[in-house]
Amino acid sequence: MKIGVFDSGIGGLTVVKSLLEHQLFKEIIYYGDTARVPYGVKDKTTIIRYAIEAVDFFKEFSLDLIIVACNTVSAYALYEMRQRAKCPVIGVVEAGVMATVNILEDTDSNILILGTKATINSKSYEIGLTNSGFKNLQAKETSLFVSLVEEEIYSGKILNETFKYYFKDIKQNPQAVILGCTHFPLLKDELQKYFGEDTKLIHSGEAIVEHLSLQFDFSKKHQNPKIQFFASENTDALKKIALKWLQT
Ligand code: DGL
Repeated sequence: MKIGVFDSGIGGLTVVKSLLEHQLFKEIIYYGDTARVPYGVKDKTTIIRYAIEAVDFFKEFSLDLIIVACNTVSAYALYEMRQRAKCPVIGVVEAGVMATVNILEDTDSNILILGTKATINSKSYEIGLTNSGFKNLQAKETSLFVSLVEEEIYSGKILNETFKYYFKDIKQNPQAVILGCTHFPLLKDELQKYFGEDTKLIHSGEAIVEHLSLQFDFSKKHQNPKIQFFASENTDALKKIALKWLQT
């Protein structure tokens, strides 16, 4: 399969990393809308407009599948993208809900949902989890994490202060934290340290792999897939970060 992976910026690379680790696809076209990131502070109509433009960007590649490696876009624009695209379009939110439900045995588990302002306002995760019987939910928008990651700040004083600022009112230590933004796995180590080893972190990349495995036959592995990177601005910077991240 030849697939497209779309995010507002570099966050979707965390999803590409999972796809590569599991050797699922023969060819991957990555598109990051780096000229207009962040999406998470924008309103619904703008997010939908940008998402439709991303479908148009992919048109010339004759793809078999588009993976929306952005929770914000998955929360608001999947329907519109599906209307526009000539291939299936899969988003990370549904996959994240499923992964959380699968990992937690007890529906009383305390779950903390992190995401951009737009994703948290959409209540997409809460709706999915409530429908599966989970009620002990806290949601926190942590939009600044996106800017920190785009600035390649993955640890240190500024990040610690940002944790304190966002997490000061979090009640009891959560059993699971949903990294409801594909930028956030880049902060995974620091988040794990902050919440402790017992807290499970739900990662959009791993979740989408699990989700895709239910729908497609991946018995044939692709060890050396062809990957092309595109960005709406400064493609070289995106390629540089991609090389660094996909190798570590
Ligand atoms: N990486 C995106 C997500 O998963 C959003 C980042 C942004 O553009 O605000 O929600």
